[in-house]
Amino acid sequence: MNPVDPKAVLVTGGAGYIGSHTVKALALAGYDVCVFDNLLAGHREAVERIARAVPARSITLVEGDILDRARVVQALRESRAQAVLHFAALLSVGESVAEPAKYYETNVIGGLTVLSAMAEAGVSRFVFSSTAATFGEPLVTPIDESHPQLPVNPYGETKLVIERALRSLDAATGLRHIVFRYFNAAGADPEGHLGEDHTPEIHLIPRAILAALTGEPLQIFGDDYATPDGMCIRDFVHVTDLAAAHVAGLQRLEAGRPSASYNLGMGAGVSVRDVVSAVERVTGRPVPHTVAARRAGDPSRLVATSSCARTELGWTPRYGDLDTIVSTALAWHQAHPQGYGSPE
Ligand SMILES: NC(=O)c1ccc[n+]([C@@H]2O[C@H](COP(=O)([O-])OP(=O)(O)OC[C@H]3O[C@@H](n4cnc5c(N)ncnc54)[C@H](O)[C@@H]3O)[C@@H](O)[C@H]2O)c1
Repeated sequence: MNPVDPKAVLVTGGAGYIGSHTVKALALAGYDVCVFDNLLAGHREAVERIARAVPARSITLVEGDILDRARVVQALRESRAQAVLHFAALLSVGESVAEPAKYYETNVIGGLTVLSAMAEAGVSRFVFSSTAATFGEPLVTPIDESHPQLPVNPYGETKLVIERALRSLDAATGLRHIVFRYFNAAGADPEGHLGEDHTPEIHLIPRAILAALTGEPLQIFGDDYATPDGMCIRDFVHVTDLAAAHVAGLQRLEAGRPSASYNLGMGAGVSVRDVVSAVERVTGRPVPHTVAARRAGDPSRLVATSSCARTELGWTPRYGDLDTIVSTALAWHQAHPQGYGSPE
């Protein structure tokens, strides 16, 4: 424990999409942040932009792999972190079905390596990025925290393994943790510093925006679901609202409150067709699209209830309206046609 700076944290995966928005929120809330990322999908430029946007805080990047235990221990010690927010993971459902070993290695062995490094460095607060995919095919909608967790793909399974390990470690060692199960993260930093830059892009809203901007058709998977318009229904939550939940979750742990798990979504079911309409409305352009067969393991409807996060964390999403989500994402893509490779 460092008495000089009680507000230093380490963020694995902090150069990635949700991680970087959270690093910015943490910096604005007064934390010094050490980002630990192997830059597989993350961007050095994202970390540099946060450092420029919040010059009062120390924002550093350690380029390293979470499987490298000694390097994680060293980063924890050198940064004097008192908590870890763990975003680093692989997250494509389809890829996890095709290459499950990779997912178990990064998400399970990598997650356990971070936890073991924390034990060695004497860090006992942990905030974990979990996912709606741990629930599998919903038995009831909306999904609350007591819904059975029966994942239907290796990605969801690997996240559930860590959730379970956290419960056991809490009981055995007092590791206090917050699990956040995000539904569909979307949107971009409303101040325009950060946004979504994945290669290939797998998420619906940026893909629909790119289709509108480039004319390259969006591929939609399935229009024969048992939903009002036949398309999958998802729950989109703004990435800046997710970031705010992480700050609140960390503060809950700092206040000495017990471990907890929270679903994070807006509770609004939005179909793929609704997203296409919103992107057409906001961009003023058509979204060319084709319809392909359903993908295995895609539940028809994933909608959260986040009342626990609202009541226990005081979480109040500010950007959850679908047109706001799309507008912030569009502003990012228009200002950064080469993603983080574009000039600021
Ligand atoms: N994007 C979503 O809608 C969504 C939904 C639910 C859960 N999640 C979870 O949120 C977290 C962040 O997702 P994201 O969308 O920001 O993804 P992302 O790919 O943008 O970020 C992940 C980051 O982790 C880093 N990373 C990957 N493997 C690593 C390793 N072995 N060592 C060090 N760093 C490594 C990548 O370089 C990247 O910067 C993930 O844990 C994901 O499972 C995301």
